[in-house]
Amino acid sequence: MTFNPLEERGIPLDRQVRNWRELDVMPIDPDHADPYTRCRIIAMNGIEVEAILFNHQFARHCTIPEVRRQLAETRYIEAQQQKVVNWLLPGLASVLETTIAYEQVAVDLTAWVARMEPDPYLKQAYEFGVLEDFDHLYRYANLFELIEHRRAERVVDQLTEVMPGRPTMLHHRHPIDNLREPYDKNTTAPLSKLHALTIMSAEQQTMNFYMNVGPEYMEPIARQLYQEIGLIEEEHVTHYESLVDPGETWWEQLVNHEYNECYMYYSFLETESDRRVRSIWELHLNMELEHLRIATELMRRHDGRDPKEVLAPRFPAPVRFEPNKEYLRELIATQIDYTTLGTGYVQEAHERFQRWQEQIHDDERAPSERVIDENRAKAGEEYRLETEGVHPLPSLRRH
Ligand SMILES: [Fe+2]
Ligand SMILES: [Fe+2]
Ligand SMILES: [Fe+2]
Ligand SMILES: [Fe+2]
Repeated sequence: MTFNPLEERGIPLDRQVRNWRELDVMPIDPDHADPYTRCRIIAMNGIEVEAILFNHQFARHCTIPEVRRQLAETRYIEAQQQKVVNWLLPGLASVLETTIAYEQVAVDLTAWVARMEPDPYLKQAYEFGVLEDFDHLYRYANLFELIEHRRAERVVDQLTEVMPGRPTMLHHRHPIDNLREPYDKNTTAPLSKLHALTIMSAEQQTMNFYMNVGPEYMEPIARQLYQEIGLIEEEHVTHYESLVDPGETWWEQLVNHEYNECYMYYSFLETESDRRVRSIWELHLNMELEHLRIATELMRRHDGRDPKEVLAPRFPAPVRFEPNKEYLRELIATQIDYTTLGTGYVQEAHERFQRWQEQIHDDERAPSERVIDENRAKAGEEYRLETEGVHPLPSLRRH
């Protein structure tokens, strides 16, 4: 199916406002929902949060009153969309359960993007990052068993494996080594721009989530683990946002944002298993088509350029949540010992990396290590979910 969002008609903006009844969505059932439905909700919430924050930043830099009014109107709709999407999550789920789902999103969404990414340098950036969120999932799963006495397969089902990736304590790098080389907006594939926006948004939402919920816990190990992984999500936002060409104009960025929102709703509409949630993706797609039309008008008028120059003529294949177990095992087997140096990757612990590690760890065991020690001591063994056999690296197998 070919779908060109520039040729579709959406819902007029003045008919997009929702009342309390329409905003009051029924959440999904935490015990019976498809785990990937929850993943789509979390990913889409991240996209909407970025739509709101980007729009605010644009408005703060915009001197044209008529554009500021237009941005405010669209932004209010984005805010209502974010409320509807995020409120699909059930209040019954604990913060830690939702956290595990956030890391499942980071693993399976980033792995999908890495597999589909045509540019080798960008692909490497996703492959590098995914091995870290894969390890976060394992650390939080152990915290879940330790303090809530529940097992992470209740959240991830059998779709995503839970075992060590690149060890979390080694994710703490000098900030300048987290900056990548940006793509070139004039030559990169349109799909690469969409990928970068999507993963940047998902990681930004994860960073925001941990910085807010981390101190809600009483248990010292939980508070400490959220601090540690929260800091790594800051690194991940730096890593992914630096892939985006900083030379894109505000107008161009707005068009890219709205186009990506259309693409993500279209993707989830095509792949959603829950009929009720699917109808929300469909409604929001029809809203976004109009946001996109408005953004392209603004670009034509104020940037003097045709948006067709920067956008894909039709949507790429839909983004799909699906297991990536073999792909991840292959990455673990080949890239686990990578770190970054400048905008590249190396396999040895260079001097600037060592220095940063010494400063942050200061001869103490990191929370991400202690959570495993503590769970092992209490439960007899650490928590893992290895559905495809033993760990690919002998040194990281259970002992
Ligand atoms: Fe939106
Ligand atoms: Fe993570
Ligand atoms: Fe992350
Ligand atoms: Fe939008």
